[in-house]
Amino acid sequence: MGFPVSDVSTSADNSQEVVAAVLTQRNHDPHALVQILREVQDHLGWLPRKAIVQIARSLKMPLADVEGVVGFYRFFHTTPVGDYRILFSDNITDRMAGSAALMADLCARLNLKPGEVDKDNLVSVAATSCIGLCDQGPSVLINHRYAIPALNAEKIATMSELVRARVPVAQWPTEWFRIHDNIRRPDVLLGTPLELGSALQAALARGPHGVLEEIKKSNLRGRGGAGFATGLKWELCRKAAGQEHIVICNADEGEPGTFKDRVLLSSYADAVFEGMTLAAWVLGGNAKRGFLYLRGEYRYLLDGLHAVLEQRRQKGLLGKAILGRAGFDFDIEIHIGAGAYVCGEESALIESLEGKRGTPRIRPPFPVEQGYLGHPTTVNNVETYCAVNHIVLHGGEWWAGIGTRKSTGTKIHSISGDCERPGLYEYPFGTSVRTMLSDCGAKDTQAVQVGGPSGLCLSAFEFGRRIAFEDVPTAGAFMVFDRSRDMFDVAHCFAQFFAHESCGFCTPCRVGSALVVKRMDKLVAGYGSRYDVDVLFEMDKLMHLATHCGLGAAACNPLRDTIAKFRPAYESKLKSLYFEPGFSLDDELSIARRVTGRDDAAAHFQHTE
Ligand SMILES: Cc1cc2nc3c(=O)[nH]c(=O)nc-3n(C[C@H](O)[C@H](O)[C@H](O)COP(=O)(O)O)c2cc1C
Ligand code: SF4
Repeated sequence: MGFPVSDVSTSADNSQEVVAAVLTQRNHDPHALVQILREVQDHLGWLPRKAIVQIARSLKMPLADVEGVVGFYRFFHTTPVGDYRILFSDNITDRMAGSAALMADLCARLNLKPGEVDKDNLVSVAATSCIGLCDQGPSVLINHRYAIPALNAEKIATMSELVRARVPVAQWPTEWFRIHDNIRRPDVLLGTPLELGSALQAALARGPHGVLEEIKKSNLRGRGGAGFATGLKWELCRKAAGQEHIVICNADEGEPGTFKDRVLLSSYADAVFEGMTLAAWVLGGNAKRGFLYLRGEYRYLLDGLHAVLEQRRQKGLLGKAILGRAGFDFDIEIHIGAGAYVCGEESALIESLEGKRGTPRIRPPFPVEQGYLGHPTTVNNVETYCAVNHIVLHGGEWWAGIGTRKSTGTKIHSISGDCERPGLYEYPFGTSVRTMLSDCGAKDTQAVQVGGPSGLCLSAFEFGRRIAFEDVPTAGAFMVFDRSRDMFDVAHCFAQFFAHESCGFCTPCRVGSALVVKRMDKLVAGYGSRYDVDVLFEMDKLMHLATHCGLGAAACNPLRDTIAKFRPAYESKLKSLYFEPGFSLDDELSIARRVTGRDDAAAHFQHTE
């Protein structure tokens, strides 16, 4: 941009100028609304109403529509949040590593409460959903553009002094921002360096149809969770009629406990972009535009990713006539999310890319038929794009020979929690949970949550099971819990996550996820009965059946598994076997006693068993 970006600026005085410059830069395109809002906020620190009005007027959009978008994303602020906005990652693994105590310590030092902005409008501290640093937590995100892993009491003490002294975050100790890849077990994707452009050269030699055949032969299934066959997806998209075809890389990585895409984007970005370019080659001459949808929490990766894109343009690997092939024109843009887990769902992601609220679409039509702006669109995970390079280079049969018949190739796992060596582990599909636990140095393990809160919780009896679509499917998270952990706390944390992330579009999820948390809070408060546990079980069935998208359907998975496999963790919190109210009637009568001036035995509620 043509004007300086400051770390610490909440002045809205120059907002008109800032908004005008951002809008010009974005060609007054309403489809860029999320990016426009993000960039304006980057400069002003928050989104003053007059800036929102100016944006709505300039884009010729109803003000209510713009406000609707602003209100949808958690990283947009319509009131000042201080020059320092400090967000603590709040996954269960962060809690296990002491994040709550560190946050309380920072709040005490800065003399504020979580969620509050201090009276000088200098700083606010709050919790946010997992920021993808579980292998090196506890961690914080500052001003939505700096991440600090491996926090401890000493750093918190220094941080509070730096904030009070108003030292810009960019001038804080450099080593604080060092994020490690922690690659512990590389295999095909993490261990074989790709020569720049080599997969593209091989693709040109094979031709689009030949590449598609190899991908189909490989039986590669998407790594984003659902496991849809990549070859079939690309074929459907290629065949769908449209003036333009779109390639999207889903780098939203919001599933708590997953951080493999962060590492792929940090250290293997060329492979990701090369895979996207291969998809464009397969889709045909109409596929000229690609988008990488980067989660807002990974904003700090943006400059590095832009540098890689630029280098690829310089080398003829992106842009017009790629590798000299006339008509093979393709380029990639990066869009940044703004703190909404549901935007990882592919149709919600497309809505967000179009500048709207990230509400999942009704399907069909599927994105391969009508996706971004109605064009046939293929959406794939970061790891899926990395994998296709190797398939194009070595052939589909070679890939199909790795792993199991139904789950071919390798899979990257983000391992965190109670183990000695957290980090990335790449294994052929079919590897047992026990092998993975042994490799990462897990001891006395009680449970493993595979695939994040939406996935499966396995007890020790199941550690012989294998990671594969036909046994234990996964999008990549592998959180380990030893016997010191209360599995109720784990499920409670995940229930809070889903309630927090529900987009609110459909009632069963919006209300159901909140009711689940309320019931669990009731157990924590000591008012639980077996009836409440039964109700939680019923909620699982209801939400599976009645919700609009995968988020709501998966929201009770952790409850279902932990109630079935770790029931004592729930029963130890029950007050009775029968119904119990969620409050103490005697406590509720205290106001009446005060008003009437009575506190004798008869004025107290007598509980009879
Ligand atoms: C609530 C929700 C969140 C999701 N988040 C992601 C995500 O962060 N990354 C991802 O690749 N897929 C995510 N998915 C799956 C996508 O909808 C889609 O299936 C995937 O991007 C397709 O890519 P693939 O075929 O390469 O797996 C999510 C799905 C749901 C329901
Ligand atoms: S299930 Fe939840 S996240 Fe999905 S559309 Fe409904 S409210 Fe939104």
